[in-house]
Amino acid sequence: MRILFIGGTGIISTACTDLALARGHELFLCNRGKRASPPAGAKLIAADVHDERAAAAALDGRTWDAVVDFIAYTPDDIERDLRLFRGRTGQFVFISSASAYQKPALHHVITESTPLANPFWEYSRNKIACEERLVRALREEAFPATIVRPSHTYDQTQVPLAVNSWQRSYTAVDRMRRGLPVIVPGDGSSLWTFTHSSDFAKAFLGILGHQQAIGHAFHITSDEVLSWELSYLAVAAAAGVASPKLVHIASDFIAACLPDAIGGLIGDKSNSAVFDNTKVKRLVPDYVATTRFRDGMERTIAWFDADPARRLIDEAADREWDRLIAAYERGLAAARREFGR
Ligand SMILES: NC(=O)c1ccc[n+]([C@@H]2O[C@H](COP(=O)([O-])OP(=O)(O)OC[C@H]3O[C@@H](n4cnc5c(N)ncnc54)[C@H](OP(=O)(O)O)[C@@H]3O)[C@@H](O)[C@H]2O)c1
Repeated sequence: MRILFIGGTGIISTACTDLALARGHELFLCNRGKRASPPAGAKLIAADVHDERAAAAALDGRTWDAVVDFIAYTPDDIERDLRLFRGRTGQFVFISSASAYQKPALHHVITESTPLANPFWEYSRNKIACEERLVRALREEAFPATIVRPSHTYDQTQVPLAVNSWQRSYTAVDRMRRGLPVIVPGDGSSLWTFTHSSDFAKAFLGILGHQQAIGHAFHITSDEVLSWELSYLAVAAAAGVASPKLVHIASDFIAACLPDAIGGLIGDKSNSAVFDNTKVKRLVPDYVATTRFRDGMERTIAWFDADPARRLIDEAADREWDRLIAAYERGLAAARREFGR
């Protein structure tokens, strides 16, 4: 197939790029060339997709079997994509987010027909609006849209914990290694699903160019389910920390101190999330996620340990977590006094 990825060198999309090339597809990447040079075999179309005129000129009226926009976040992005790719692609794939599924979660098992509603996170509401625009384009003009909703998906550059820095995710590992406490939401027993990007890519490539995927939405996740407690312990074990200090704090309390946690925790990670992947497996029958979280974390920690320049620390997050833990411990001590314990 002749495929275009908008993005293609990111956390999720790099593995998709690698697999598309390994399978012999003709692959074009449209990005700014800032993050990484395109892997051998991929053709770079250098453009800032937010500069529509420049992007249209760079794309130069070409046609594709499949176009994937990995970095569309708002309905405006989708309107632009409709202008750029109408009549030019056999399939258009929008990368949405599993955070769009109903919050608070009413059932921990999520299928593609779980309602989409997230009053806590604007990011998710925007993804829902993008999906709705594409469904309308499918109905009104047969625009060949497919929606893919990744859940928490990581590669070797990410330590995906519930309370961590997204940009500098080594920060939580650094705290564990220094014997400092890290924050676990709730009592750590709520369930979560992590997917390695190399697993995501296998199902994703299977639905690219698949006629029966058009008009449908899919999530793509691992079938491995862990509690947050076990996830933190897996990260600690990979980092060589035998007894990490885990501080369990109610998500409401965390969100009261860290406003970003309203979306990322209350609207996402503090809700148990177990995915039924039957739908994508129907179209891609050989799809099975094979990377266990503990193995993925060993790869991630090895990646960080291989080069000190990668071990960036989010100092601001570090300070906020210290403040939060201190506030929590003062509150706990006050409660103990109050109840004579
Ligand atoms: N990871 C998760 O857990 C998760 C969960 C749910 C949904 N998602 C969704 O997954 C998508 C992210 O995919 P990803 O992880 O591969 O992306 P990413 O890590 O955010 O990488 C961004 C990619 O887009 C390119 N890019 C950024 N700004 C650009 C611009 N203005 N013009 C052209 N190219 C640009 C980057 O290259 P340059 O910087 O070189 O341009 C890079 O290739 C998002 O839609 C997100 O909502 C992720």
